[in-house]
Amino acid sequence: MNKLVSLLSLPLLSLPVYANVEFLHWWTSDGEKQALNVLEKQLTSHGLALSPSPVLGGGGDSAMTVLQARALAGNPPSFAQTEGPSIKSWDAIGILHEVNSVAQKHHWDETLYPLAREINKTQNGYVALPLTLHRLNWMWVNHKLLNSLGQPVPKTWQQMFTIMELAKRNGISPLAVGEQPWQIAMLFENLVISTQGVEFYTKAMVELQKESIDSEPLRLALQQLRRISLLVENSLPDTKWDTATRALASDQALFQLGGDWILGELMANNINVPNDVGCYATPESDGVFLFNMDSLIFMASKSFNFSQANHAADILADKDFQRDFNQLKGSIPVREDIDISDFNPCQIQSYQDFQVGITNNKVVPSMIDSMAVNPVAQQAINSAIFRFYRDKDLEPDTVIKRIIAIAESN
Ligand code: GAL
Repeated sequence: MNKLVSLLSLPLLSLPVYANVEFLHWWTSDGEKQALNVLEKQLTSHGLALSPSPVLGGGGDSAMTVLQARALAGNPPSFAQTEGPSIKSWDAIGILHEVNSVAQKHHWDETLYPLAREINKTQNGYVALPLTLHRLNWMWVNHKLLNSLGQPVPKTWQQMFTIMELAKRNGISPLAVGEQPWQIAMLFENLVISTQGVEFYTKAMVELQKESIDSEPLRLALQQLRRISLLVENSLPDTKWDTATRALASDQALFQLGGDWILGELMANNINVPNDVGCYATPESDGVFLFNMDSLIFMASKSFNFSQANHAADILADKDFQRDFNQLKGSIPVREDIDISDFNPCQIQSYQDFQVGITNNKVVPSMIDSMAVNPVAQQAINSAIFRFYRDKDLEPDTVIKRIIAIAESN
């Protein structure tokens, strides 16, 4: 605020009035930073200077921990990146500025996808600004390496395992994956959906139904995760997702499974997608749209009042900005009225698969990436799955019992 006062004291013909807004986020990879630059330019062009507060750690676990600590200390940022049900939790403690006037001005009730409205509204109306719709059941394929093995793109998990085992025998790393709980849990989430379908996935992983968790289908998915863990060399522990993407892009790895922030990373590194690295639905998940959504929450504090929050939200609700941001991020917009015909073919495929998913009721939220349960349960389940992946002696029943205990305490 001091900066604002000092600027205001300058003669009116001088610099435009600049206020500082602090943004807490976890967008720290090449692709994420390129998209973030678009956000910063959007604010700057409207007289707001961005003070970014990046928190390392893909997937956002660390960022959410920092945000909670800062809110508890009465020192929240102006606005923050967040996802899913935690929006409602933040609103319930009365710390968010509602943005209903912005929603009305930008016709969100008419332009946002229904799931974007549901995720970002509470009984107080719109309390968050939806920004991206990421698809997570993607398989990214290094075509040069796949062709060198003389193999087709796998359509089933049996073909996937056969090709990964062939790659390993030929000295090719079969799967680029960082050894972090959320990345390993994302492999598991894909296995559950691919092998057991969205209905089972929803009962076991979204609704945390005990009889679905303690079941043969979940044991089968755990056994397949174990098979992957035995195939994948123990890459450097704590490898970040974008380090894995660089391995995929530089012909060091054959496949990567994960959300289309990977597309943003590949585009930022001038990789030709889909020609050199292709995007395909994770085996046996055609027609499924497993998603997460990035939203922005505007946090009440002495230094960031309601009108400042709604001024910033109004700027970031702009349709052209939302298009430009998503195009670089690798995601698709959360509004139905944005033309994406000049987006990457993978993003156009994502949009088409989203429409198919809506028609067939196969659009499902990612539990491991903050779209289904509270952060405590999510991180505890991710850690249990990660422990099973790392500890080859751990039995599936041990993990199942742990997940049930987490579900019952949820
Ligand atoms: C997700 C987030 C994406 C991307 C990804 C990797 O949770 O929605 O925007 O940041 O983490 O960090």
